[in-house]
Amino acid sequence: MPLPDGFIEEIKFKNDIIDVISSYVNLKRRGRNFVGLCPFHNEKTPSFNVYLQSNSFYCFGCGVGGDIITFIEKIENLNYIEAVKFLAQRAGLEMPENDGKTQELLSIKTRIFEINRESARFFYERMYSEEGKKALEYLKKRGLSGKIIRKFGIGYSPSTRYELVNYLKKKGFKYEEMINANLVYGKNGLRIAARFFDRIMFPIIDLRGNVIAFGGRTLPAQQKPKYLNTSDTLVFKKSLNLFSLNFARIDNAGVLVLVEGYMDVIALYQAGIKNAVATLGTALTSEQARIISRYAKEVIICYDSDEAGQKATARAIDLLRPTGLLIKVISLPNGKDPDEFVRHYGRDAAVRFSQLIKNSENDVDYKLKKLANNYNFNESNEKVAYLRESIKILASLDDLIEQEIYAGKLSEKLNVPKDAIMLQIEKEKKKKKKIIDKKHFLQVQQDLSAKNDKINTEKFDNLRAATAEEAIIAYIFNNPEMAGEIFSRISSESFCTSFNKKIYSILEERFKALRPIGIIDLTQDFSSEEIAAIAAMVARESERMSDKDAVLEYIDVVLFEKEKLNKNKIISARDDENEIMEYMKLLREHKK
Ligand code: UTP
Ligand code: MN
Repeated sequence: MPLPDGFIEEIKFKNDIIDVISSYVNLKRRGRNFVGLCPFHNEKTPSFNVYLQSNSFYCFGCGVGGDIITFIEKIENLNYIEAVKFLAQRAGLEMPENDGKTQELLSIKTRIFEINRESARFFYERMYSEEGKKALEYLKKRGLSGKIIRKFGIGYSPSTRYELVNYLKKKGFKYEEMINANLVYGKNGLRIAARFFDRIMFPIIDLRGNVIAFGGRTLPAQQKPKYLNTSDTLVFKKSLNLFSLNFARIDNAGVLVLVEGYMDVIALYQAGIKNAVATLGTALTSEQARIISRYAKEVIICYDSDEAGQKATARAIDLLRPTGLLIKVISLPNGKDPDEFVRHYGRDAAVRFSQLIKNSENDVDYKLKKLANNYNFNESNEKVAYLRESIKILASLDDLIEQEIYAGKLSEKLNVPKDAIMLQIEKEKKKKKKIIDKKHFLQVQQDLSAKNDKINTEKFDNLRAATAEEAIIAYIFNNPEMAGEIFSRISSESFCTSFNKKIYSILEERFKALRPIGIIDLTQDFSSEEIAAIAAMVARESERMSDKDAVLEYIDVVLFEKEKLNKNKIISARDDENEIMEYMKLLREHKK
Protein backbone atom coordinates (compact mmCIF):
# COMPACT_ATOMS: atom_id res chain seq x y z
CA MET A 1 0.00 0.00 0.00
CA PRO A 2 1.72 3.17 -1.12
CA LEU A 3 1.63 5.76 1.63
CA PRO A 4 3.91 8.74 1.08
CA ASP A 5 7.47 8.52 2.35
CA GLY A 6 7.83 9.54 5.92
CA PHE A 7 4.16 9.33 6.82
CA ILE A 8 4.55 6.16 8.84
CA GLU A 9 7.61 7.68 10.48
CA GLU A 10 5.54 10.64 11.50
CA ILE A 11 2.83 8.34 12.88
CA LYS A 12 5.44 6.54 14.92
CA PHE A 13 6.98 9.77 16.11
CA LYS A 14 3.68 11.28 17.21
CA ASN A 15 2.26 8.15 18.86
CA ASP A 16 4.23 6.93 21.81
CA ILE A 17 3.85 3.16 21.95
CA ILE A 18 3.53 3.12 25.73
CA ASP A 19 0.88 5.83 25.61
CA VAL A 20 -1.13 4.07 22.95
CA ILE A 21 -1.00 0.61 24.50
CA SER A 22 -1.61 1.99 28.00
CA SER A 23 -5.06 3.08 27.04
CA TYR A 24 -5.94 -0.58 26.57
CA VAL A 25 -3.58 -2.45 28.87
CA ASN A 26 -2.47 -1.71 32.38
CA LEU A 27 1.31 -1.67 31.88
CA LYS A 28 3.93 -1.91 34.57
CA ARG A 29 7.60 -1.18 34.13
CA ARG A 30 9.91 -4.16 34.31
CA GLY A 31 13.53 -3.26 33.73
CA ARG A 32 13.74 -1.53 30.38
CA ASN A 33 10.45 -2.94 29.20
CA PHE A 34 6.82 -2.83 30.16
CA VAL A 35 4.60 -5.78 30.93
CA GLY A 36 0.89 -6.30 31.35
CA LEU A 37 -1.93 -8.78 30.92
CA CYS A 38 -2.31 -9.66 27.28
CA PRO A 39 -5.47 -8.11 25.81
CA PHE A 40 -5.58 -10.78 23.11
CA HIS A 41 -5.94 -13.85 25.26
CA ASN A 42 -7.16 -14.62 28.71
CA GLU A 43 -4.37 -14.80 31.26
CA LYS A 44 -3.75 -14.16 34.91
CA THR A 45 0.00 -13.59 34.91
CA PRO A 46 1.36 -11.02 32.53
CA SER A 47 3.24 -12.29 29.49
CA PHE A 48 2.51 -9.31 27.27
CA ASN A 49 5.69 -7.23 26.76
CA VAL A 50 6.20 -3.82 25.27
CA TYR A 51 9.73 -2.96 24.18
CA LEU A 52 10.60 0.70 24.10
CA GLN A 53 13.79 0.55 22.11
CA SER A 54 12.30 -1.36 19.25
CA ASN A 55 8.82 0.17 19.56
CA SER A 56 7.31 -3.28 19.50
CA PHE A 57 5.21 -5.61 21.58
CA TYR A 58 5.09 -9.36 21.93
CA CYS A 59 3.06 -11.79 24.01
CA PHE A 60 4.91 -14.92 25.08
CA GLY A 61 1.57 -16.46 25.95
CA CYS A 62 -0.20 -16.30 22.60
CA GLY A 63 2.49 -15.19 20.16
CA VAL A 64 0.77 -11.99 19.07
CA GLY A 65 3.23 -9.20 18.36
CA GLY A 66 4.17 -6.27 16.19
CA ASP A 67 4.29 -2.50 16.24
CA ILE A 68 1.63 0.08 17.17
CA ILE A 69 -0.12 -0.26 13.84
CA THR A 70 -0.44 -4.04 14.29
CA PHE A 71 -1.62 -3.41 17.83
CA ILE A 72 -4.37 -1.04 16.73
CA GLU A 73 -5.37 -3.34 13.86
CA LYS A 74 -5.92 -6.18 16.29
CA ILE A 75 -7.40 -4.39 19.23
CA GLU A 76 -9.77 -2.17 17.28
CA ASN A 77 -10.46 -4.81 14.66
CA LEU A 78 -9.34 -2.58 11.80
CA ASN A 79 -7.40 -3.24 8.63
CA TYR A 80 -3.98 -1.75 8.03
CA ILE A 81 -5.10 1.51 6.48
CA GLU A 82 -7.87 2.01 8.98
CA ALA A 83 -5.36 1.52 11.79
CA VAL A 84 -2.99 4.04 10.25
CA LYS A 85 -5.91 6.43 9.96
CA PHE A 86 -6.85 5.82 13.58
CA LEU A 87 -3.34 6.64 14.73
CA ALA A 88 -3.15 9.63 12.42
CA GLN A 89 -6.32 11.01 13.92
CA ARG A 90 -5.06 10.35 17.41
CA ALA A 91 -1.97 12.38 16.63
CA GLY A 92 -3.87 15.08 14.77
CA LEU A 93 -2.29 14.27 11.42
CA GLU A 94 -3.99 14.67 8.08
CA MET A 95 -4.36 11.37 6.27
CA PRO A 96 -2.90 11.29 2.76
CA GLU A 97 -5.14 10.37 -0.16
CA ASN A 98 -6.34 6.78 -0.11
CA ASP A 99 -5.68 4.34 -2.87
CA GLY A 100 -8.46 2.69 -4.80
CA LYS A 101 -8.72 -0.56 -2.92
CA THR A 102 -9.13 0.99 0.51
CA GLN A 103 -11.59 3.43 -0.89
CA GLU A 104 -13.58 0.51 -2.25
CA LEU A 105 -13.63 -1.31 1.08
CA LEU A 106 -14.67 1.85 2.87
CA SER A 107 -17.50 2.36 0.46
CA ILE A 108 -18.72 -1.24 0.86
CA LYS A 109 -18.83 -0.64 4.60
CA THR A 110 -20.64 2.65 4.19
CA ARG A 111 -23.22 0.93 2.01
CA ILE A 112 -23.79 -1.74 4.66
CA PHE A 113 -24.45 0.98 7.23
CA GLU A 114 -26.87 2.65 4.86
CA ILE A 115 -28.67 -0.55 4.00
CA ASN A 116 -28.98 -1.45 7.68
CA ARG A 117 -30.37 1.95 8.56
CA GLU A 118 -32.87 1.79 5.71
CA SER A 119 -33.91 -1.73 6.76
CA ALA A 120 -34.32 -0.69 10.39
CA ARG A 121 -36.64 2.04 9.16
CA PHE A 122 -38.54 -0.49 7.07
CA PHE A 123 -38.94 -2.92 9.97
CA TYR A 124 -40.05 -0.14 12.29
CA GLU A 125 -42.74 1.00 9.86
CA ARG A 126 -43.95 -2.55 9.28
CA MET A 127 -44.51 -2.96 13.02
CA TYR A 128 -47.35 -0.48 12.63
CA SER A 129 -48.80 -2.15 9.53
CA GLU A 130 -51.75 -4.53 9.55
CA GLU A 131 -49.47 -7.55 9.56
CA GLY A 132 -47.21 -6.10 12.26
CA LYS A 133 -50.07 -5.68 14.69
CA LYS A 134 -49.53 -9.09 16.25
CA ALA A 135 -45.88 -8.27 16.95
CA LEU A 136 -46.78 -4.93 18.47
CA GLU A 137 -49.44 -6.53 20.60
CA TYR A 138 -47.03 -9.16 21.76
CA LEU A 139 -44.52 -6.53 22.88
CA LYS A 140 -47.27 -4.52 24.56
CA LYS A 141 -48.38 -7.64 26.37
CA ARG A 142 -44.84 -8.00 27.62
CA GLY A 143 -45.07 -4.51 29.00
CA LEU A 144 -43.11 -2.46 26.49
CA SER A 145 -44.35 1.08 25.83
CA GLY A 146 -44.49 2.74 22.41
CA LYS A 147 -41.81 5.08 23.66
CA ILE A 148 -39.33 2.33 24.47
CA ILE A 149 -40.08 0.58 21.18
CA ARG A 150 -39.15 3.80 19.39
CA LYS A 151 -36.08 4.33 21.58
CA PHE A 152 -34.65 0.92 20.66
CA GLY A 153 -36.02 1.08 17.13
CA ILE A 154 -37.70 -2.30 17.50
CA GLY A 155 -39.48 -3.43 14.34
CA TYR A 156 -41.11 -6.32 12.53
CA SER A 157 -39.94 -8.22 9.47
CA PRO A 158 -42.92 -9.29 7.32
CA SER A 159 -43.48 -12.91 6.41
CA THR A 160 -43.26 -12.37 2.66
CA ARG A 161 -39.58 -12.52 1.99
CA TYR A 162 -39.44 -10.25 -1.03
CA GLU A 163 -40.96 -7.14 0.59
CA LEU A 164 -37.68 -5.97 2.11
CA VAL A 165 -35.84 -6.86 -1.07
CA ASN A 166 -38.21 -4.73 -3.17
CA TYR A 167 -38.07 -1.89 -0.72
CA LEU A 168 -34.28 -1.83 -0.74
CA LYS A 169 -34.18 -2.15 -4.51
CA LYS A 170 -36.38 0.91 -4.81
CA LYS A 171 -34.00 2.76 -2.55
CA GLY A 172 -31.22 2.00 -5.01
CA PHE A 173 -29.41 -0.88 -3.32
CA LYS A 174 -28.01 -3.78 -5.31
CA TYR A 175 -28.58 -7.45 -4.44
CA GLU A 176 -24.91 -7.81 -3.76
CA GLU A 177 -25.05 -5.02 -1.18
CA MET A 178 -28.06 -6.61 0.54
CA ILE A 179 -26.14 -9.87 0.71
CA ASN A 180 -23.05 -8.11 2.08
CA ALA A 181 -25.22 -6.85 4.92
CA ASN A 182 -26.45 -10.40 5.58
CA LEU A 183 -30.02 -9.19 5.27
CA VAL A 184 -30.74 -11.14 2.14
CA TYR A 185 -29.90 -14.58 0.77
CA GLY A 186 -29.33 -15.44 -2.84
CA LYS A 187 -26.80 -15.79 -5.59
CA ASN A 188 -26.32 -13.87 -8.82
CA GLY A 189 -29.75 -12.36 -8.52
CA LEU A 190 -31.40 -15.78 -8.16
CA ARG A 191 -33.52 -16.99 -5.25
CA ILE A 192 -33.25 -13.63 -3.59
CA ALA A 193 -35.08 -13.59 -0.26
CA ALA A 194 -34.93 -11.81 3.06
CA ARG A 195 -33.05 -13.62 5.83
CA PHE A 196 -35.39 -12.43 8.55
CA PHE A 197 -39.15 -12.95 8.16
CA ASP A 198 -42.03 -12.84 10.57
CA ARG A 199 -39.76 -11.81 13.41
CA ILE A 200 -39.50 -8.97 15.91
CA MET A 201 -36.37 -7.06 14.93
CA PHE A 202 -33.90 -5.54 17.38
CA PRO A 203 -31.33 -3.27 15.72
CA ILE A 204 -27.82 -3.47 17.14
CA ILE A 205 -26.19 -0.06 17.15
CA ASP A 206 -22.53 0.79 17.62
CA LEU A 207 -21.09 3.68 19.59
CA ARG A 208 -21.11 5.97 16.58
CA GLY A 209 -24.81 5.37 16.09
CA ASN A 210 -24.52 3.07 13.08
CA VAL A 211 -26.91 0.15 12.79
CA ILE A 212 -24.44 -2.71 12.48
CA ALA A 213 -26.67 -5.78 12.78
CA PHE A 214 -30.02 -7.18 13.86
CA GLY A 215 -31.36 -9.72 16.30
CA GLY A 216 -34.67 -11.19 15.21
CA ARG A 217 -37.03 -12.90 17.67
CA THR A 218 -39.82 -15.24 16.67
CA LEU A 219 -43.32 -14.59 17.82
CA PRO A 220 -44.36 -17.19 20.36
CA ALA A 221 -44.46 -20.78 19.10
CA GLN A 222 -43.26 -20.07 15.60
CA GLN A 223 -40.00 -20.53 13.79
CA LYS A 224 -36.88 -21.88 15.33
CA PRO A 225 -34.43 -20.70 16.52
CA LYS A 226 -35.98 -18.26 18.95
CA TYR A 227 -33.43 -15.63 17.99
CA LEU A 228 -31.74 -15.27 14.65
CA ASN A 229 -28.85 -12.80 14.57
CA THR A 230 -26.91 -11.19 11.74
CA SER A 231 -23.81 -13.26 11.02
CA ASP A 232 -20.49 -11.47 11.06
CA THR A 233 -20.16 -8.96 8.22
CA LEU A 234 -17.55 -6.40 7.24
CA VAL A 235 -19.01 -4.04 9.84
CA PHE A 236 -20.09 -6.48 12.54
CA LYS A 237 -18.39 -9.05 14.72
CA LYS A 238 -20.59 -10.38 17.44
CA SER A 239 -17.68 -11.12 19.76
CA LEU A 240 -16.70 -7.45 19.67
CA ASN A 241 -20.01 -5.75 20.36
CA LEU A 242 -22.51 -5.46 23.16
CA PHE A 243 -26.20 -4.82 22.83
CA SER A 244 -27.21 -1.34 24.07
CA LEU A 245 -23.69 -0.17 24.91
CA ASN A 246 -24.54 2.88 22.82
CA PHE A 247 -27.24 3.81 25.36
CA ALA A 248 -25.66 2.33 28.47
CA ARG A 249 -22.39 4.17 28.27
CA ILE A 250 -24.12 7.55 28.43
CA ASP A 251 -25.10 7.58 32.09
CA ASN A 252 -23.54 4.53 33.59
CA ALA A 253 -21.71 6.36 36.43
CA GLY A 254 -18.93 3.86 36.10
CA VAL A 255 -21.19 0.83 36.47
CA LEU A 256 -22.51 -1.53 33.81
CA VAL A 257 -24.97 -4.35 34.37
CA LEU A 258 -24.36 -7.44 32.30
CA VAL A 259 -27.48 -9.45 31.47
CA GLU A 260 -28.26 -12.33 29.13
CA GLY A 261 -30.89 -11.13 26.71
CA TYR A 262 -32.08 -8.26 24.56
CA MET A 263 -35.39 -8.26 26.37
CA ASP A 264 -33.68 -7.99 29.75
CA VAL A 265 -31.77 -4.90 28.66
CA ILE A 266 -34.88 -3.27 27.26
CA ALA A 267 -37.12 -4.05 30.23
CA LEU A 268 -34.51 -2.69 32.63
CA TYR A 269 -34.11 0.42 30.52
CA GLN A 270 -37.82 1.07 30.60
CA ALA A 271 -37.80 0.67 34.38
CA GLY A 272 -35.12 3.35 34.60
CA ILE A 273 -32.03 1.16 34.80
CA LYS A 274 -30.28 2.36 31.69
CA ASN A 275 -26.85 0.88 32.12
CA ALA A 276 -27.47 -2.74 31.18
CA VAL A 277 -25.77 -4.46 28.24
CA ALA A 278 -25.98 -7.98 26.80
CA THR A 279 -23.83 -10.15 24.60
CA LEU A 280 -25.15 -11.00 21.16
CA GLY A 281 -26.17 -14.61 21.23
CA THR A 282 -22.82 -15.94 22.45
CA ALA A 283 -21.10 -16.31 25.79
CA LEU A 284 -19.06 -13.33 26.96
CA THR A 285 -15.70 -13.02 25.20
CA SER A 286 -12.47 -11.56 26.52
CA GLU A 287 -12.79 -8.75 23.99
CA GLN A 288 -16.19 -7.85 25.37
CA ALA A 289 -14.78 -7.97 28.91
CA ARG A 290 -12.14 -5.50 27.82
CA ILE A 291 -14.74 -3.24 26.22
CA ILE A 292 -16.77 -3.23 29.42
CA SER A 293 -13.68 -2.27 31.39
CA ARG A 294 -13.14 0.64 29.07
CA TYR A 295 -16.54 2.12 29.86
CA ALA A 296 -16.93 1.17 33.50
CA LYS A 297 -15.08 0.58 36.73
CA GLU A 298 -17.59 -1.89 38.05
CA VAL A 299 -19.65 -4.58 36.39
CA ILE A 300 -22.66 -6.32 37.89
CA ILE A 301 -23.39 -9.71 36.46
CA CYS A 302 -27.08 -10.50 36.49
CA TYR A 303 -27.58 -13.75 34.63
CA ASP A 304 -30.41 -16.24 35.01
CA SER A 305 -30.33 -18.26 38.19
CA ASP A 306 -30.67 -21.61 36.38
CA GLU A 307 -27.67 -23.87 36.03
CA ALA A 308 -26.69 -22.56 32.60
CA GLY A 309 -26.86 -19.01 33.93
CA GLN A 310 -24.66 -19.87 36.90
CA LYS A 311 -22.09 -21.56 34.73
CA ALA A 312 -22.06 -18.52 32.48
CA THR A 313 -21.59 -16.34 35.58
CA ALA A 314 -18.51 -18.29 36.67
CA ARG A 315 -17.07 -18.04 33.17
CA ALA A 316 -17.80 -14.33 32.96
CA ILE A 317 -16.06 -13.72 36.30
CA ASP A 318 -12.92 -15.43 35.04
CA LEU A 319 -12.94 -13.33 31.90
CA LEU A 320 -13.68 -10.06 33.69
CA ARG A 321 -11.18 -10.46 36.54
CA PRO A 322 -8.02 -9.83 34.51
CA THR A 323 -9.40 -6.49 33.30
CA GLY A 324 -9.23 -5.10 36.84
CA LEU A 325 -12.96 -4.34 36.94
CA LEU A 326 -14.74 -4.53 40.25
CA ILE A 327 -17.14 -7.43 39.84
CA LYS A 328 -20.41 -8.04 41.60
CA VAL A 329 -23.02 -10.68 41.15
CA ILE A 330 -26.74 -10.50 41.76
CA SER A 331 -29.01 -13.46 41.77
CA LEU A 332 -32.60 -12.47 41.26
CA PRO A 333 -35.12 -13.99 43.67
CA ASN A 334 -37.25 -17.00 42.66
CA GLY A 335 -35.26 -17.79 39.56
CA LYS A 336 -36.57 -14.76 37.68
CA ASP A 337 -34.72 -13.11 34.82
CA PRO A 338 -34.37 -9.31 34.84
CA ASP A 339 -37.28 -8.87 32.46
CA GLU A 340 -39.62 -10.93 34.66
CA PHE A 341 -38.29 -9.13 37.72
CA VAL A 342 -39.17 -5.75 36.22
CA ARG A 343 -42.66 -6.87 35.28
CA HIS A 344 -43.22 -8.42 38.70
CA TYR A 345 -42.34 -5.27 40.63
CA GLY A 346 -43.80 -2.77 38.18
CA ARG A 347 -43.31 0.77 39.45
CA ASP A 348 -41.03 -0.36 42.27
CA ALA A 349 -38.72 -2.28 39.98
CA ALA A 350 -35.96 0.34 39.79
CA VAL A 351 -35.85 0.82 43.56
CA ARG A 352 -35.90 -2.91 44.16
CA PHE A 353 -33.20 -3.51 41.62
CA SER A 354 -31.01 -0.79 43.12
CA GLN A 355 -31.43 -2.47 46.49
CA LEU A 356 -30.31 -5.74 45.02
CA ILE A 357 -27.25 -4.02 43.59
CA LYS A 358 -26.47 -2.48 46.94
CA ASN A 359 -26.67 -5.84 48.67
CA SER A 360 -24.93 -7.74 45.91
CA GLU A 361 -21.86 -9.75 46.76
CA ASN A 362 -18.57 -9.46 44.97
CA ASP A 363 -17.21 -12.18 42.76
CA VAL A 364 -15.03 -13.82 45.40
CA ASP A 365 -17.83 -14.03 47.95
CA TYR A 366 -20.05 -15.39 45.21
CA LYS A 367 -17.56 -18.08 44.26
CA LEU A 368 -16.92 -19.10 47.86
CA LYS A 369 -20.61 -19.29 48.57
CA LYS A 370 -21.29 -21.37 45.46
CA LEU A 371 -18.49 -23.68 46.48
CA ALA A 372 -19.80 -23.99 50.02
CA ASN A 373 -23.08 -25.37 48.69
CA ASN A 374 -21.27 -28.56 47.77
CA TYR A 375 -20.01 -29.41 51.23
CA ASN A 376 -21.38 -30.51 54.56
CA PHE A 377 -19.46 -28.61 57.22
CA ASN A 378 -20.36 -31.04 59.97
CA GLU A 379 -18.03 -33.54 58.38
CA SER A 380 -14.38 -32.74 59.06
CA ASN A 381 -13.12 -34.20 55.83
CA GLU A 382 -15.61 -32.16 53.82
CA LYS A 383 -14.59 -29.06 55.72
CA VAL A 384 -10.97 -29.74 54.77
CA ALA A 385 -11.93 -30.33 51.15
CA TYR A 386 -13.85 -27.06 51.10
CA LEU A 387 -10.89 -25.24 52.60
CA ARG A 388 -8.60 -26.67 49.97
CA GLU A 389 -10.81 -25.59 47.11
CA SER A 390 -11.38 -22.12 48.54
CA ILE A 391 -7.65 -21.65 48.95
CA LYS A 392 -7.33 -22.29 45.23
CA ILE A 393 -9.83 -19.52 44.57
CA LEU A 394 -7.95 -17.11 46.84
CA ALA A 395 -4.57 -18.03 45.39
CA SER A 396 -5.80 -16.94 41.97
CA LEU A 397 -6.33 -13.37 43.21
CA ASP A 398 -3.49 -10.97 42.50
CA ASP A 399 -4.18 -8.72 45.40
CA LEU A 400 -2.59 -9.53 48.75
CA ILE A 401 -5.05 -7.39 50.67
CA GLU A 402 -7.93 -9.29 49.15
CA GLN A 403 -6.29 -12.53 50.12
CA GLU A 404 -5.87 -11.32 53.69
CA ILE A 405 -9.49 -10.27 53.94
CA TYR A 406 -10.91 -13.52 52.62
CA ALA A 407 -8.49 -15.61 54.62
CA GLY A 408 -9.83 -13.76 57.67
CA LYS A 409 -13.39 -14.54 56.69
CA LEU A 410 -12.62 -18.20 56.09
CA SER A 411 -10.74 -18.43 59.34
CA GLU A 412 -13.78 -17.20 61.24
CA LYS A 413 -16.18 -19.37 59.36
CA LEU A 414 -14.23 -22.60 59.70
CA ASN A 415 -12.45 -21.86 62.91
CA VAL A 416 -8.99 -22.37 61.45
CA PRO A 417 -6.13 -19.94 62.21
CA LYS A 418 -5.79 -17.27 59.58
CA ASP A 419 -2.02 -17.62 59.41
CA ALA A 420 -2.36 -21.25 58.49
CA ILE A 421 -4.70 -20.31 55.66
CA MET A 422 -2.35 -17.59 54.42
CA LEU A 423 0.51 -20.06 54.47
CA GLN A 424 -1.47 -22.49 52.35
CA ILE A 425 -2.34 -19.70 49.92
CA GLU A 426 1.35 -18.88 49.54
CA LYS A 427 2.11 -22.52 48.84
CA GLU A 428 -0.63 -22.74 46.28
CA LYS A 429 0.60 -19.57 44.59
CA LYS A 430 4.12 -20.95 44.35
CA LYS A 431 2.79 -24.15 42.88
CA LYS A 432 0.82 -22.20 40.31
CA LYS A 433 3.75 -20.01 39.47
CA LYS A 434 5.89 -23.05 38.83
CA ILE A 435 3.33 -24.46 36.44
CA ILE A 436 3.07 -21.13 34.64
CA ASP A 437 6.83 -20.66 34.44
CA LYS A 438 7.17 -24.10 33.03
CA LYS A 439 4.51 -23.47 30.43
CA HIS A 440 6.16 -20.19 29.54
CA PHE A 441 9.52 -21.89 29.20
CA LEU A 442 8.10 -24.64 27.04
CA GLN A 443 6.44 -22.09 24.85
CA VAL A 444 9.69 -20.23 24.30
CA GLN A 445 11.48 -23.50 23.62
CA GLN A 446 8.84 -24.46 21.13
CA ASP A 447 9.20 -21.09 19.47
CA LEU A 448 12.93 -21.60 19.24
CA SER A 449 12.88 -25.13 17.99
CA ALA A 450 10.86 -23.70 15.10
CA LYS A 451 9.56 -27.07 14.08
CA ASN A 452 6.35 -25.47 13.01
CA ASP A 453 7.79 -22.25 11.74
CA LYS A 454 5.31 -21.41 9.03
CA ILE A 455 6.80 -18.01 8.43
CA ASN A 456 10.45 -18.86 7.90
CA THR A 457 10.07 -22.22 6.23
CA GLU A 458 13.81 -22.69 5.78
CA LYS A 459 14.54 -22.17 9.44
CA PHE A 460 14.42 -25.77 10.53
CA ASP A 461 16.95 -26.86 7.92
CA ASN A 462 19.30 -24.01 8.80
CA LEU A 463 18.67 -23.71 12.48
CA ARG A 464 22.07 -22.35 13.48
CA ALA A 465 22.15 -19.76 10.76
CA ALA A 466 18.52 -18.71 11.15
CA THR A 467 18.85 -18.28 14.90
CA ALA A 468 21.93 -16.12 14.48
CA GLU A 469 20.27 -14.11 11.71
CA GLU A 470 17.30 -13.42 13.93
CA ALA A 471 19.56 -12.26 16.73
CA ILE A 472 21.38 -9.89 14.36
CA ILE A 473 18.13 -8.41 13.06
CA ALA A 474 16.71 -8.00 16.53
CA TYR A 475 19.95 -6.48 17.74
CA ILE A 476 19.68 -3.78 15.09
CA PHE A 477 16.14 -2.94 16.18
CA ASN A 478 17.26 -2.71 19.77
CA ASN A 479 20.50 -0.83 19.05
CA PRO A 480 19.94 1.24 15.93
CA GLU A 481 23.10 3.23 16.66
CA MET A 482 25.07 0.05 15.87
CA ALA A 483 23.40 -0.50 12.51
CA GLY A 484 26.22 1.02 10.44
CA GLU A 485 28.84 -1.21 11.91
CA ILE A 486 26.77 -4.32 11.45
CA PHE A 487 25.89 -3.54 7.84
CA SER A 488 29.58 -3.00 7.13
CA ARG A 489 30.39 -6.47 8.46
CA ILE A 490 27.69 -8.52 6.82
CA SER A 491 25.46 -7.89 3.84
CA SER A 492 22.09 -9.43 3.13
CA GLU A 493 23.75 -11.57 0.45
CA SER A 494 25.34 -13.60 3.24
CA PHE A 495 22.06 -14.44 4.89
CA CYS A 496 21.04 -18.08 4.56
CA THR A 497 17.27 -18.06 4.95
CA SER A 498 15.27 -15.96 2.53
CA PHE A 499 12.76 -14.62 5.03
CA ASN A 500 15.51 -13.16 7.22
CA LYS A 501 17.38 -12.05 4.13
CA LYS A 502 14.36 -10.07 2.99
CA ILE A 503 14.08 -8.29 6.33
CA TYR A 504 17.78 -7.56 6.48
CA SER A 505 17.99 -6.25 2.95
CA ILE A 506 15.07 -3.88 3.51
CA LEU A 507 16.78 -2.58 6.63
CA GLU A 508 20.04 -2.26 4.76
CA GLU A 509 18.41 -0.27 1.97
CA ARG A 510 16.63 2.01 4.37
CA PHE A 511 19.83 2.57 6.25
CA LYS A 512 21.69 3.47 3.07
CA ALA A 513 18.92 5.88 2.17
CA LEU A 514 19.40 7.49 5.59
CA ARG A 515 15.87 6.53 6.58
CA PRO A 516 15.06 5.48 10.14
CA ILE A 517 14.67 1.76 10.75
CA GLY A 518 12.10 0.19 13.00
CA ILE A 519 9.56 -2.60 12.90
CA ILE A 520 6.88 -0.12 12.01
CA ASP A 521 8.76 0.73 8.80
CA LEU A 522 8.36 -2.87 7.70
CA THR A 523 4.61 -3.12 8.06
CA GLN A 524 4.06 -2.23 4.44
CA ASP A 525 6.30 -5.04 3.23
CA PHE A 526 5.16 -7.90 5.48
CA SER A 527 1.93 -9.59 6.46
CA SER A 528 0.71 -9.32 10.03
CA GLU A 529 1.83 -12.90 10.77
CA GLU A 530 5.27 -12.04 9.51
CA ILE A 531 5.36 -8.90 11.62
CA ALA A 532 4.41 -10.99 14.65
CA ALA A 533 7.34 -13.30 13.88
CA ILE A 534 9.67 -10.32 13.70
CA ALA A 535 8.29 -8.99 16.98
CA ALA A 536 8.99 -12.41 18.48
CA MET A 537 12.64 -12.18 17.40
CA VAL A 538 12.90 -8.80 19.05
CA ALA A 539 11.22 -10.04 22.22
CA ARG A 540 13.58 -12.99 22.50
CA GLU A 541 16.57 -10.74 21.92
CA SER A 542 15.31 -8.31 24.55
CA GLU A 543 15.25 -11.13 27.08
CA ARG A 544 18.76 -12.16 26.04
CA MET A 545 20.23 -8.65 25.70
CA SER A 546 23.24 -9.60 23.61
CA ASP A 547 26.26 -7.32 23.76
CA LYS A 548 28.41 -6.29 20.85
CA ASP A 549 30.75 -9.27 21.17
CA ALA A 550 27.84 -11.65 21.02
CA VAL A 551 26.57 -9.98 17.88
CA LEU A 552 29.95 -10.24 16.20
CA GLU A 553 29.84 -13.92 16.98
CA TYR A 554 26.38 -14.24 15.43
CA ILE A 555 27.75 -12.58 12.33
CA ASP A 556 30.58 -15.14 12.19
CA VAL A 557 28.08 -17.94 12.54
CA VAL A 558 26.01 -16.68 9.62
CA LEU A 559 29.08 -16.14 7.44
CA PHE A 560 30.37 -19.61 8.24
CA GLU A 561 27.04 -21.30 7.61
CA LYS A 562 26.67 -19.43 4.34
CA GLU A 563 30.08 -20.63 3.20
CA LYS A 564 29.08 -24.16 4.05
CA LEU A 565 25.90 -23.80 2.05
CA ASN A 566 27.74 -22.40 -0.96
CA LYS A 567 30.29 -25.19 -0.96
CA ASN A 568 27.60 -27.77 -0.72
CA LYS A 569 26.01 -26.23 -3.74
CA ILE A 570 29.22 -26.38 -5.72
CA ILE A 571 29.78 -29.97 -4.72
CA SER A 572 26.37 -31.13 -5.80
CA ALA A 573 26.95 -29.51 -9.17
CA ARG A 574 30.02 -31.65 -9.94
CA ASP A 575 30.04 -35.25 -10.92
CA ASP A 576 30.71 -38.00 -8.41
CA GLU A 577 34.42 -38.37 -8.87
CA ASN A 578 35.16 -34.73 -8.46
CA GLU A 579 32.78 -34.50 -5.59
CA ILE A 580 34.91 -36.69 -3.40
CA MET A 581 38.07 -34.81 -4.31
CA GLU A 582 36.40 -31.53 -3.60
CA TYR A 583 35.12 -32.74 -0.31
CA MET A 584 38.56 -33.92 0.79
CA LYS A 585 39.96 -30.54 -0.12
CA LEU A 586 37.29 -28.77 1.84
CA LEU A 587 38.03 -30.85 4.88
CA ARG A 588 41.70 -30.08 4.64
CA GLU A 589 41.02 -26.37 4.26
CA HIS A 590 38.81 -26.42 7.23
CA LYS A 591 41.41 -28.07 9.42
CA LYS A 592 43.94 -25.30 8.74
P1 UTP B 1 -33.21 -15.58 26.11
O1 UTP B 1 -33.93 -16.76 25.62
O2 UTP B 1 -33.06 -15.40 27.58
O3 UTP B 1 -33.80 -14.30 25.41
O4 UTP B 1 -31.77 -15.62 25.45
P2 UTP B 1 -34.49 -12.97 25.93
O5 UTP B 1 -33.77 -11.82 25.32
O6 UTP B 1 -34.66 -12.99 27.40
O7 UTP B 1 -35.87 -13.01 25.20
P3 UTP B 1 -37.28 -13.48 25.69
O8 UTP B 1 -37.47 -12.97 27.08
O9 UTP B 1 -37.31 -14.95 25.61
O10 UTP B 1 -38.19 -12.87 24.71
C1 UTP B 1 -30.78 -14.70 25.80
C2 UTP B 1 -30.08 -14.19 24.58
O11 UTP B 1 -29.43 -15.25 23.90
C3 UTP B 1 -29.46 -15.06 22.51
C4 UTP B 1 -30.15 -13.71 22.29
O12 UTP B 1 -29.15 -12.71 22.22
C5 UTP B 1 -30.98 -13.56 23.54
O13 UTP B 1 -31.28 -12.21 23.83
N1 UTP B 1 -30.18 -16.15 21.82
C6 UTP B 1 -31.14 -16.87 22.44
C7 UTP B 1 -29.85 -16.44 20.51
O14 UTP B 1 -28.97 -15.80 19.93
N2 UTP B 1 -30.50 -17.45 19.85
C8 UTP B 1 -31.49 -18.16 20.45
O15 UTP B 1 -32.08 -19.04 19.79
C9 UTP B 1 -31.81 -17.87 21.78
MN1 MN C 1 -36.17 -13.45 28.78
